[in-house]
Amino acid sequence: MKFWQRFSVEGLSCVVTGGASGIGLAYAEVMCDAGARVTLLDIDATSLQEQVQRLTKAGYSVEGEVVDVTDRAAMYASFARIGERYGGLDVVFANAGIDAGPGFLDSEGQRSTDGALENLTEEHWDKVLAINLTAVFITLRAATRLMKPQGHGRIIVTTSNAAIINEAIVGTPYMPAKAGAASLVRQAAMELARYGINVNAIAPGPFVTNIAGGRLHNEADRSAFAKRVPQHRIASTEEIKGLALFLASPASSYVTGAQIVIDGGQMLGLVD
Ligand SMILES: NC(=O)c1ccc[n+]([C@@H]2O[C@H](COP(=O)([O-])OP(=O)(O)OC[C@H]3O[C@@H](n4cnc5c(N)ncnc54)[C@H](O)[C@@H]3O)[C@@H](O)[C@H]2O)c1
Repeated sequence: MKFWQRFSVEGLSCVVTGGASGIGLAYAEVMCDAGARVTLLDIDATSLQEQVQRLTKAGYSVEGEVVDVTDRAAMYASFARIGERYGGLDVVFANAGIDAGPGFLDSEGQRSTDGALENLTEEHWDKVLAINLTAVFITLRAATRLMKPQGHGRIIVTTSNAAIINEAIVGTPYMPAKAGAASLVRQAAMELARYGINVNAIAPGPFVTNIAGGRLHNEADRSAFAKRVPQHRIASTEEIKGLALFLASPASSYVTGAQIVIDGGQMLGLVD
């Protein structure tokens, strides 16, 4: 066997939450392209149908289910169906997430009224935490039920570099939600190692996706983010595929409990 063959995910069953757009769609595409059998879960029925049709037409093994990751009963039922359909679950990407509205500074560096701490509503806090943190717990729980009896599995959570460095131009509840998800990854990795399940986080910097109503397609926002990245640019979702494939494949067998930052050096804090 050649070493590069350890990057193979051929035939593996894989679930991607939030798989109909952006980073989740890129995970789904690379897994499909590498021969995995992929199920996309997403709340957006229209995009989901569009992407499943496109990938099916391209000859890939792909299914889609409309599921809200915060709907616990629907999530457990969906994972049970997937487990039966594929005879187990090898890889899950817990990826669905939302932005958290305006930060306390806007993209020009001015104080924002809507993003100020005293103006954030409790409902807003609850919603961000429900999708970006509690739903990760639900996804891990549903996946573990399938992976533990089979004695292997890969769980990959999309956190953010905002789990590690705080951001003024991102809505405040986003940081604690992502930091919580990163902590859950480490805890689950410790617990599940003895069952052959590796749990890791991918922590992206700014990628052009549809998050925040497609904010990063807008020039002012793009440059506000890009000027804080040593590479002076925002990433394309193509650039996350290599890391996703690595973490899903046997090539990463000794990597667990890690949070791998993929942010063009933004975390280094040095921009020239
Ligand atoms: N784009 C970035 O710059 C960036 C940076 C760091 C982290 N992230 C994280 O990456 C992940 C993916 O975001 P993206 O940027 O690709 O955004 P996106 O909006 O392009 O994709 C997110 C997908 O999740 C789905 N989704 C949202 N709420 C859902 C719910 N309740 N149930 C099921 N599906 C739901 C959406 O319909 C959408 O298809 C998120 O966890 C986000 O926090 C993104």
